[in-house]
Amino acid sequence: MKFSIVTCPAIWSILSCVSSAFVTPSIKPRFLKTTVSASALSVSSGSMNCRPIGIGSAAPETVISNVDLESVVETSDEWIKTRTGISNRHVLQHGETLRELEEKAARKAIEMAEIDASDIDLVICCTSSADDIFGDAPSIANSLGCTKNTIAFDLTAACSGFMFGTITAGQFLSAPNSNINHVLVIGADSLTRWIDWDDRNSCILFGDGAGAMVLKKDDDAPGILGYSGHSIGSGYENLRCGYVGKERKISTPGDGTIVSDGSFGKLTMNGMEVYKFATREVPKCIDEAMEAAVITIEKVDWLLLHQANIRIMETVAKRLGISMDKCISNLDEYGNTSAASIPIALDEAVRSGKVKKGDVIACAGFGAGLSLGAAIIKW
Ligand code: UT7
Repeated sequence: MKFSIVTCPAIWSILSCVSSAFVTPSIKPRFLKTTVSASALSVSSGSMNCRPIGIGSAAPETVISNVDLESVVETSDEWIKTRTGISNRHVLQHGETLRELEEKAARKAIEMAEIDASDIDLVICCTSSADDIFGDAPSIANSLGCTKNTIAFDLTAACSGFMFGTITAGQFLSAPNSNINHVLVIGADSLTRWIDWDDRNSCILFGDGAGAMVLKKDDDAPGILGYSGHSIGSGYENLRCGYVGKERKISTPGDGTIVSDGSFGKLTMNGMEVYKFATREVPKCIDEAMEAAVITIEKVDWLLLHQANIRIMETVAKRLGISMDKCISNLDEYGNTSAASIPIALDEAVRSGKVKKGDVIACAGFGAGLSLGAAIIKW
């Protein structure tokens, strides 16, 4: 399959910023590699001149347990727990909005960062299920009180969204002569809006939520030590939620025109292929990010993977040679919240005191695209 970077805003954004990062002496990339082939694109680099200073999260109040799902599809609490590690998921009910969660998470992150919303220069909302297809970020920035000439845009990269958003934020903060000093990165999704509740392969996996992180420009003490990102478009059919508009005839002169009356279909997934992709590619991606950061796994305090399946986490941890005791997981309570899963888990780990200042966290997101991204974050 031919890959087009024009159709992938996240990678386009990363690449355009990376190219400028390459020429600035202040960034000191330990190395920077971009590779484009017929079916895949990747980018990796060393530290960026910024660090995280605040984190927050929010989840819907409504909880659906595995036992509840036994009344919806032919499944069992035992099967779901054993095969996935999930017990509960939080879901938005009809009438509730994702924007409420995004704002709530953002406010908590800004509060922890001890800055004013008006200090934020850029808001990146990483989501594939925005309330508004044109993007949630500008209205969130407005509600938060980002009264500067704040730039705000959405970034769509499914479960890799928060990683790609963090890397993109780092590039803006590190760009030469950049006047961007604080970036709010939100990871949020409500995939329960798009799943097929009759499909037991997928409906048991997903929950809704939002997480947010504030990154601050810092030329002296970098907090993103290295990163790596990949898009493997040849595998996109394994996890997708495509457009399926209905025919509608409009009465233009002559015979009229059949236009497409827009909607999206249901999420479809080849679980086994996604599983194989994740266990094969994620360890390599984290290895690349660690190499870019010039560290080895012994220097990593915590492994924080996209919360998709406990068996994926166990396999990746084993391949990297890191103990499961160092693996941050809240999958049991939230299921797979897509772009929100990494910041929700990081928020809980920071607030509970598990992750301490100075700890090194190897994070990796993966999923639809197919895409994957890793960042080595120093808290
Ligand atoms: O953000 C990325 C999102 N996606 C993922 O991360 C998905 C990654 N993949 C996975 O997590 C796993 O592949 C699943 C959890 C989706 C499935 O687990 P599995 O161990 O790969 O199961 P399977 O698809 O091989 O299915 C095994 C059996 C099948 O029955 P038969 O054909 O052996 O009779 C399925 O029909 O389990 C059956 N099955 C279920 N049984 C009870 C599938 N879903 C269910 C279910 N309850 N919910």
